[in-house]
Amino acid sequence: MITFYLNDREVQAEPDSTVLQVARAAGIDIPTLCHHPALKPAGSCKVCAVAVEKLTGEKTIMLSCLLRVKEGMRVFTSGEEVHQARSRALNKLIALAPTSERIRHIAAKEGIELPPAPDGCIRCRLCIRVCKEVIGKEALRMEKQDGLQMVIADPERCIGCGTCANICPTHAITIQEDGGTRTVSIRGEVFGRHELLRCQGCGKYYATERQIQLMERRTAPHPQVKEHHHYCANCAKLFSDRLTVLEKQPPRQQTTNKRQR
Ligand code: SF4
Ligand code: FES
Repeated sequence: MITFYLNDREVQAEPDSTVLQVARAAGIDIPTLCHHPALKPAGSCKVCAVAVEKLTGEKTIMLSCLLRVKEGMRVFTSGEEVHQARSRALNKLIALAPTSERIRHIAAKEGIELPPAPDGCIRCRLCIRVCKEVIGKEALRMEKQDGLQMVIADPERCIGCGTCANICPTHAITIQEDGGTRTVSIRGEVFGRHELLRCQGCGKYYATERQIQLMERRTAPHPQVKEHHHYCANCAKLFSDRLTVLEKQPPRQQTTNKRQR
């Protein structure tokens, strides 16, 4: 057996054990990302850093997944040197995998602050502008949260038209239609769930009630156009094409009516 010191505590270990194995068996938490018990250690992620004290008292950083125990060795799994080394490793890793929950979790446990995870939004404000300037609802706004400008949705104002999702260049806002329900989400969080109405022509779900109400209000002075709102885009087009054709046709001959009588 080998006797060495882990955080100033004397421990015994089988020769050939790694510091990581011994520490974990002793209930000491060391973070790892590239370690797998079924594989040989590779030392890639460097988050398992520990400090080894030399005879001079100076500390040097080693990787606990690779480091084999040695007689009399003094190992520390925390402290400023360890924190610095893990911090460097985690910052590099987060640049490679910015949305990784696991890396963020390890960083939080280590007390390391990482930049906010990218949310897919490039802050172009197209969604906010279209909702205000075209739809007239102002259901979206920009607001500072945790030091970062974020698009925030107001579910009360949202009519579920989906214009913001259609205009968003990065798909940070999405719409999902499932049966008779349309769901609008930002950053994966739902901010609107709306029942859909069926088209009176083909029967397909096509728009939300609040969306139709808005269109009806906007086109109130044009009763003929208003009727189109009960049809999906395809049927409305068919309907208006037919109207155009009928309008262009010459009026029916009187003789037709006579023959029918
Ligand atoms: S959610 Fe999309 S449209 Fe809105 S600001 Fe972000 S990237 Fe632009
Ligand atoms: S666990 Fe990745 S370097 Fe040790």
